[in-house]
Amino acid sequence: MSSGFKKSSSFPNEMPVVRINRVSHYFGEGDARKQVLFENNLEVMPGEIVIMTGPSGSGKTTLLTLCGCLRTVQEGTLQVIGKDLADLNAQQLVDIRKSIGFIFQAHNLFASLTAYQNVCMSLQLHPWEKQAKHDRAMEVLTQLGLGHRVVYKPGSLSGGQRQRVAIARALANRPKLILADEPTAALDAESGRDVVQLMQKLVKEEQSTIMIVTHDNRILDVADRIINMVDGRIISNVLVKESVAICTFLARCEAFTGLTPDMLTKVAEKMKREIFEQGAIIIRQGEEGDKFYLIRRGSVDVIIDEGQPSQVMLVLKEGDFFGEKALITGQPRSATIRAKERIECYTLDKVSFQEAIAASDSFKQQIYKAYFQRQ
Ligand code: CMP
Repeated sequence: MSSGFKKSSSFPNEMPVVRINRVSHYFGEGDARKQVLFENNLEVMPGEIVIMTGPSGSGKTTLLTLCGCLRTVQEGTLQVIGKDLADLNAQQLVDIRKSIGFIFQAHNLFASLTAYQNVCMSLQLHPWEKQAKHDRAMEVLTQLGLGHRVVYKPGSLSGGQRQRVAIARALANRPKLILADEPTAALDAESGRDVVQLMQKLVKEEQSTIMIVTHDNRILDVADRIINMVDGRIISNVLVKESVAICTFLARCEAFTGLTPDMLTKVAEKMKREIFEQGAIIIRQGEEGDKFYLIRRGSVDVIIDEGQPSQVMLVLKEGDFFGEKALITGQPRSATIRAKERIECYTLDKVSFQEAIAASDSFKQQIYKAYFQRQ
């Protein structure tokens, strides 16, 4: 069994920026009380661009405003930037709000202030040095293509330019989280795309997370994750770019090279990304097999316990896989697998693994080749 290839890269921060757990919400009181959100769960990771779609009245904006601490959580738990909102007092909620960039449809710019002053207003919420504040306001306005419009007031700017000022204002403080509600609604197709692409570029540079509620399907392709809501429920949650990334990785790994693009996509869509900390036991010898693992980053020890002392037989690295034996034979795990460092794996559940073996001869051959070598 050979390692597919080598590529080093640092780990992203793995704490979700937003963690929604069984969140329900109601409007009105007494007889008029109406449930608008039903036990929603969602985790959004740093650097993700999440697009929330769904018909009007499906609860997207309510969920977004809950994440922005603009409403009080009634049922379930909501963590934003590492804090459980239920644990926070009024001042702490204000502090969290200050660390979020909001972009709303009616962009709420101050009509009497210039573009530059509007952006500076948001910087005043934080302790910036005067010069640093000036530099940052100019920098972000320039990045958004408004360097020549800084002294214009909103009334003298086009819709697209006003929206870009609103975005500059939201991004100026380098917030960890940006919440946008229909940011392109007032814009024509071209400026809508421009605005979103600029947001995408800036948030990627800053490793910020952005959640966008939109009906505009022309901007779907910037999404890392697409959430679809219907009647107060998240009915689908797809990591778009992740399956593309998994697919690209699979195509470079020896065991998967024989899969047709179609099979590759199907397998990638079923794979989940899992992180194991250094020293974690991923598989324990003697236990029943339930998953197949492909190493995306890092390395593991294969430890075989044949009486004392147990021995590290070998090390598997990026592009290698493990956990196939028990799934093929139905026998218990033949070794213990321990993370040598923090590792990232793509995993495939037993049923999907068996389907992939059944559907592709070349995949089967590659897996069996390793399997017989490991006997
Ligand atoms: P499984 O038995 O499901 O779980 C433990 C895994 O360790 C096993 O599948 C193989 O993927 C891997 N493994 C066990 N023995 C060896 C070996 N001798 N060489 C390489 N990998 C092994």
